[in-house]
Amino acid sequence: MTDYKNLRAQLRALAEAEPWYVSLLSNASALLMEALPDLNWAGFYLLREDSLVLGPFQGRVACVRIAPGRGVCGTALVEDKTQLVPDVHAFPGHIACDAASASEIVVPIRSGGRVIAVLDLDSPTQGRFTEADREGLEAFVRELETLAAFD
Ligand code: SME
Repeated sequence: MTDYKNLRAQLRALAEAEPWYVSLLSNASALLMEALPDLNWAGFYLLREDSLVLGPFQGRVACVRIAPGRGVCGTALVEDKTQLVPDVHAFPGHIACDAASASEIVVPIRSGGRVIAVLDLDSPTQGRFTEADREGLEAFVRELETLAAFD
């Protein structure tokens, strides 16, 4: 079981050092990649001019632009709701950046009352993400929203 309370404490320490979103999201992706077992990708897509654009991440080279409503990330954006996908091959419109990905979770990030980015985690194992992960990652993102300096 991942210790999400500890992860939030580490995130606060990182934000104290530098809250600028590029630095903080970069270190947040490294933190998640290291702390959560069995991931092959951890990172962020940021809303820019009506598309999600690739932000700081850990993992293999990924697709750079995702339209609203497309794939798991674009669905999380338009529905403003976490997408927990136990089997990406069963998700209509899933965008396969890394053929190794088998399950995925995407959590919307809000600022000023609207979604401005998403956190995306991929795993090579089907059913990798649990309800406990959903709760832990949503709490992580809530903390990130209060700490990050988006400009
Ligand atoms: N699979 C995602 C695309 C991003 S990659 O997983 C890094 C999707 O369907 O939105």
